[in-house]
Amino acid sequence: MSVEQSIFSLRDAALAQLQTASTLEALEAVRVDALGRKGKLAEISKEFGKLPPDERARIGKVLNSVKNELEATLESKKSAFDNAKLNARLETEWIDLTAPPSGIKLGSLHPVTQVQREIEDLFLSLGFTVLDGPEVETEYYNFDALNIPADHPARDMQDTFWLKDGRLLRTHTSPVQVRALEKLGPPLKMIAPGRVFRNEEVDPSHEHTFYQLEGMMVDKGVSVAHLIYFMKTLLSAIFKRDVTVRLRPGFFPFVEPGFELDIQCLICGGPGCPVCKQSGWVELLPCGLVHPAVLKYSNVDPEKWSGFAFGLGLTRLAMMRYAIDDIRLLASGDLRFLNQF
Ligand code: FA5
Repeated sequence: MSVEQSIFSLRDAALAQLQTASTLEALEAVRVDALGRKGKLAEISKEFGKLPPDERARIGKVLNSVKNELEATLESKKSAFDNAKLNARLETEWIDLTAPPSGIKLGSLHPVTQVQREIEDLFLSLGFTVLDGPEVETEYYNFDALNIPADHPARDMQDTFWLKDGRLLRTHTSPVQVRALEKLGPPLKMIAPGRVFRNEEVDPSHEHTFYQLEGMMVDKGVSVAHLIYFMKTLLSAIFKRDVTVRLRPGFFPFVEPGFELDIQCLICGGPGCPVCKQSGWVELLPCGLVHPAVLKYSNVDPEKWSGFAFGLGLTRLAMMRYAIDDIRLLASGDLRFLNQF
């Protein structure tokens, strides 16, 4: 057989083998056998030396083209196999990104957030707007504009975290009353839930960081009757049962008259416990009619407009609602506690 014939018969045999090869290993075996360093084509090349020079050039070209053809066929077979392998893998390993993951535990909203959202829904249904205010507040909004002048003993009612620049961490949500009136003017019905800060000793019913929910309605002819109606609606919506409350006079420079609305302690039911400081009552909802001086600070004419305001202790309300006997649990991050809600 001539050299040229051996090249072609090698080519035909290799192509036939490639055609029937069904695995990557079989393809590799054909490659090693035909194109490998010690393979058949290399073997044939050794015969070149014996050929006359012009024949050598011609056969060289034939050899190269056969080599290229085999390599190309091998490559395309290989990539067909790779594709098939990938498709098979995609078929078995596809991931449905919309499927809920298994084994992941669902979280839940913090009890204070749950109560906050319920109250927001209630007041939205009553035509109130939900507002927000800054936690870092100026002395003006936290005290002065609420009719608590500097050096007035009322400032000491709320121990304050002062910042170096003269601002402070708001001690209550009442500054939002003034900000809202300034910005939106009367008539106004708003609530403003948020975090407040006080530099005070913590105990089962006192935290240094807790939540309040401010509420205010300013319109023509607003009276204590409106105030009591909204407070009753709020409490019956939250507790969904009769709770005993008491209303007593309370002093806040930004309301006149002012009231303290207390709830009979739902932890002990009345006889006294650490949460109610053995009194049987928990201070929950201070409120009153907006003081004319506050309206004036907000450029609202007290001759024309009147209003009520309240400052609900949201964290305390959550405690009463879920019978939590220590306020410190709420910010503890303890999952054994939080998982119950
Ligand atoms: C105020 O903060 C007034 N701004 C409330 C107000 C608003 C009165 C509008 C009139 C009109 P007081 O300091 O009492 O008031 O706090 C309000 C409520 O926040 C309390 O009744 C109590 O439920 C809650 N509270 C007060 N201090 C703490 C504390 N350290 N930890 C948890 N809750 C507290």
